[in-house]
Amino acid sequence: MKIKDWFKKVNLYSKTNLYIYDDCYIFLEFLLKKNRIWIEININKNLDFKFIEYLNIFLIRRLRGEPVAYILNGYYFLNISYIIYPDIFIPRLGTEYMVDFIIKLIKKKNFLNILDLGSGSGVIACSIAKNCPDTNVWALDNKILSINLIRLNCLKLNLFNVYLLKSNWFLNIYNKLNFFNLIVSNPPYIWKKDVCINNNDLRFECKYSLVSNKKGFEDIIYIIISSFIYLKNKGWLILEHSLLNLYKIIYYFKKYYFNVCTFKGIHNNYRFTIGQKLLK
Ligand SMILES: C[S@@+](CC[C@H](N)C(=O)[O-])C[C@H]1O[C@@H](n2cnc3c(N)ncnc32)[C@H](O)[C@@H]1O
Repeated sequence: MKIKDWFKKVNLYSKTNLYIYDDCYIFLEFLLKKNRIWIEININKNLDFKFIEYLNIFLIRRLRGEPVAYILNGYYFLNISYIIYPDIFIPRLGTEYMVDFIIKLIKKKNFLNILDLGSGSGVIACSIAKNCPDTNVWALDNKILSINLIRLNCLKLNLFNVYLLKSNWFLNIYNKLNFFNLIVSNPPYIWKKDVCINNNDLRFECKYSLVSNKKGFEDIIYIIISSFIYLKNKGWLILEHSLLNLYKIIYYFKKYYFNVCTFKGIHNNYRFTIGQKLLK
């Protein structure tokens, strides 16, 4: 089968799935280790039998709605390639905005000790560690699968300034009071009754990474209050969140922190809030 014949087959599904054509380019790029331009120029080349088998499996999984990141076990975050497993949260574009902001802040203030709470695949911790090599970054998650994956990503990226912690939020770091210059988290914040949980975008994701009790507020409120004692004076807390509970989040930030500010992400929605610990 030629590459162009494969795309003819894909075309059959493009009316029901608008993005399938682009996704299949990604599958071909992944298998052939060539870019899109090369594929377009070599559209008359024959595909190996084993590649056709893989492409068929990838296509079926994608048509079922499975995210490309889980099919290829990979994801790009701030132009760095990471390994991803099913059951681990797939990082989102909105988080890239926040991490870009954090990297600039760390460079400006020369921060040393950073904590990433609920690190998942480790994209926040690793991006900070790679872009700010003089920092020490603690990547904390309650899932052992996540800790093992972050270890793998650190090896892949040659990072030696990331420390791994399996912990239920702050439970295993009680000795690090007044220690961190910056705590960042993209915690679970979706209400279990929110219909978006069953949307195509989220239904393959592990609910543990997404859902929080008390209408999506339990983990956020816990992190806002507890972070205060783990931050150094003048340290910053930076939290990603949704529009749900926005006013409550700002209220509690202002109760404990100074210089509170909420920033917009993609789609022009308020998506992350920052606050500074200031003792008089
Ligand atoms: C929305 S995901 C964010 C993952 C990653 N930071 C990202 O942005 O791609 C939330 C993460 O918090 C972790 N988590 C949930 N409850 C936790 C807890 N009690 N203690 C530590 N980590 C927790 C989950 O395992 C998951 O990896």
